[in-house]
This record gives sequence, structure tokens and C-alpha cells, in this order.
Amino acid sequence: MNFELTEEHLAVRDAAREFAQNELLPGVIERDEKQQFPAEQVKKMGELGFMGMMVDPKYGGGGMDTISYVLAMEEISKIDASASVCMSVNNSLVCWGLEKFGTEEQKQKYLKPLASGEKIGAFCLSEPEAGSDATSQRTTAEDKGDYYLLNGTKNWITNGNSASIYLVIAQTDREKGHKGINCLIVEKGMEGFVVGKKEDKLGIRGSDTHSLMFTDVKVPKENRIGEDGFGFKFAMSTLNGGRIGIASQALGIASGAYELALAYSKERKAFGKPISQHQAIQFKLADMATEIEAARLLCLKAAHLKDQKKDFAKASAMAKLYASKVAMDVTVEAVQVHGGYGYVKEYHVERLMRDAKITQIYEGTSEIQKIVISRELLK
Ligand code: CAA
Ligand code: FAD
Repeated sequence: MNFELTEEHLAVRDAAREFAQNELLPGVIERDEKQQFPAEQVKKMGELGFMGMMVDPKYGGGGMDTISYVLAMEEISKIDASASVCMSVNNSLVCWGLEKFGTEEQKQKYLKPLASGEKIGAFCLSEPEAGSDATSQRTTAEDKGDYYLLNGTKNWITNGNSASIYLVIAQTDREKGHKGINCLIVEKGMEGFVVGKKEDKLGIRGSDTHSLMFTDVKVPKENRIGEDGFGFKFAMSTLNGGRIGIASQALGIASGAYELALAYSKERKAFGKPISQHQAIQFKLADMATEIEAARLLCLKAAHLKDQKKDFAKASAMAKLYASKVAMDVTVEAVQVHGGYGYVKEYHVERLMRDAKITQIYEGTSEIQKIVISRELLK
């Protein structure tokens, strides 16, 4: 067992850290306030190779491993979780799914511009009445021979408006249950596809979350991913990897808040000495650092298993379950360490606390992660 990162890993981490400090930090408070998508910053992330990190270079990606992805996600999430969720969806849901299961034509046409960051992708599984219970799809993809006729509504779609390529899960044959579900590649601009309202959220307010409406959208058959009926398996397999991205996002939110709390505790004086000299504050910092280290190890273990092509479904669910809890606990404590200053926007920790909550909800709530983990345990 080797806990050392390679020089390449450290270089990726440092590049992501530098980018986050120089490009994401300026304006992050304002973007949160105005619910402004970080379009320019995401474009630069594409230019630096952060939008298709694990994709084969022949499709325009960075050809990196999942460990590098975890390290970059942590650094970017320390500063701007709205930018990092865009990165996570593009890398681990959209690019990974297309590279693993797409045809060569689909990779040439769709994966290449997504991996290079020229275009942004979205992953569309959730519906108004199908969130955790993802097999209850109401959106239909009726088989019409050469094409599918797509009808229905998707909810809560990250990159909903900024994306131009959408992976849409829909029911083709209801009698076959989850085996009658397909995943179709839908392009923005296809007739009958409308981007709905933007959600006004508690956290990750810079991320553009929208509902999507499909009315008689004709999607060519060649845009189906995998065999007929593979859509649900596609979504589940893709989410196994996606959960490593969100676990790393939670890790970054926690470590970002911890670093701010540590620095502040050395500066702020109370009762004649820095608050870091009070044992109650020291114990908070010790708990935060320990929990973050444990979360980081779970993220890296899941990434390592994925890179070794071993089964990582349980490891990624554990990483997400634990890291998202750590993100909540650590950000609440970081606000506490800052006292009243923690409660105002200028000090960043209140935003990190608001951002942390979503990591316990999307890509499978914490309760769903426990279902995934316990099913694996009881197999
Ligand atoms: N990996 C691979 N395959 C899996 C799987 C996994 N983790 N979990 C289930 N499957 C397969 C099963 O093997 C089964 O196939 P077979 O019948 O061929 O064996 C099929 O999927 C159906 O599985 P279940 O019978 O277990 O299905 P279920 O109805 O009991 O639900 C569930 C299982 C785990 C709860 C699933 O519905 C689920 O993961 N729900 C959460 C949905 C979710 O995570 N949504 C996230 C949306 S994307 C998002 O949120 C992005 C973002 O915010 C940024
Ligand atoms: P529900 O499924 O209704 O759950 C409500 C509560 O019941 C939760 O606490 C849940 O854990 C619990 N619960 C449900 N079933 C069980 C059970 N069997 N056992 C125990 N407890 C249970 N989806 C996408 O497809 N693509 C995206 O890009 C995307 N981005 C998102 C961005 C944001 C900001 C948000 C808020 C959501 C996003 N989602 C996205 C949707 C997200 O994945 C769902 O919200 C999530 O899966 C939960 O579904 P739900 O909201 O319908 O809650």
C-alpha cells in the first residue's frame, strides 16, 4: 500500500489549486449572490483540460486517472462548488458514459467537443415524480422506426441551460420495467425541446439548475446509447463514477472551510490570546482535520478501485455518504469558529455551509447511498 501521490498527481493538484485561487476566487461571492453561472471560468477550465480529465486524448481528453480527478475536484470545490458541479457532471456522468458505452460515431460527434470543454453536457434522469425512485420514469421515448419520439419533463438538471448536449433517460417499453428504459443523446435546438425555469437555490447558486421539457422531439435512433433497454443500467453504472465526483466535491467544500477556520483561529484574539489557543477551538480543528482525512482516503480508495478496473460501486457510495456528512459537519463548525464573522458573506464559510447540503441530496441522497451499500454488503 502506498499513500504517496506521484509527481504527476501533485502537478495536477497544484494546477487546479492555482486556477481556483486565481480564476475562481475573484467574484465567487458576487456570482453566488446573483446566481450567475461561471461561464468564462468554465471555458478556461476546458482549456486547461479539467472538463474531460479522464477521457482518452484521441477524443480530446486529458488521459488522466481518477485519482487526478479527485485531487482537482477537491481544489476547485474548496473555492467554487458551482464550478465544480459543472465539472463533475461533464467529466464523470456525461464524458465517462459516452466513452464507455457510446459508438465510435457518437464519440467523434459528441464526446470530442465535451472532453475538450468546447461544449458542456448534462445528465437527465430525475423527474418531478422520479428522483430516488429512478425506475419510475414518466418521460417516454416511443420507438418510431428510424427515430424515438421523446415526451416528458426532467427536473433539477445541472448545466440545464449552459449545456448543449443532453443525455436523457426515458421509458420506451413500460411493460419491461427498468429493462424498457433507454438513454438518448439530445441536442439543444432539436424541435420540441425547451429549457424551463431556473431554480432559486439555497447553495451552489452559480450552478444553473433547470427543468427541461420535451414535446414530440424526434431523436434519431443512432443517438441511443447501447442496446435497446440499456438506459437504466447505463444511468446506474454512470452514477457509480459520478458519486466519486460528488464525494470529492464534498471533500473540497469541507477542506476549504477547514483551511479558512484554521487561518482565522490564529488571527482572531479573545481573552488576550488567539482563539486557536483555546482548547475548545483546538478540539474542533482536530475533529475537522481527522474527518477530512478519512473522507479523502475514502475518495481516493474509490478512485483507485475504478482505475484498477475493479468493482467500485460500494466504495463510491461510501465515499459520497461519508464525505457529504463531513462537508455538513465541518462547514457548520467552520462558521462557529468564525463567530459572527462566519455568518456574513465576506468570510466565505456561510456559502460553503449552504453549498455543503446539496452533496447529501444529488446523485443519490444519503439514504439511497445506504441502500446501495447495504445491498452490496448483503449480496
Ligand atoms: N450499478 C450498476 N447497476 C445497478 C446499480 C449500480 N449501483 N444499482 C442498480 N443497478 C441495476 C440492478 O442490477 C438492476 O439490474 P438487473 O435487474 O439487470 O439486475 C437494475 O439496475 C435495477 O436495480 P434495482 O432493482 O436495484 O432498482 P431499484 O428500483 O430498487 O433502485 C436505486 C435502485 C439504487 C435506489 C436507484 O434507483 C438509484 O440509484 N436511485 C437514485 C437515483 C440517483 O442517484 N439520481 C441521481 C440523478 S443525477 C444527479 O443527481 C446529478 C447531479 O445532481 C449533479
Ligand atoms: P425523493 O426521492 O422524493 O426523496 C425525498 C426523501 O425521501 C429523501 O430524504 C430520500 O432520501 C427519502 N427516500 C426516498 N426513497 C427512500 C427509500 N427507499 N428509503 C429511504 N428513504 C427514501 N438529477 C438529474 O438527473 N440530473 C442532474 O443534473 C441533477 N442535478 C441536481 C441539482 C440540484 C441542485 C438538485 C437539488 C437536484 C439535482 N438532481 C439532478 C436531482 C437529484 O438527483 C434528486 O433530487 C435526488 O435524487 C432526490 O430525488 P427527489 O428530490 O425526488 O427526492
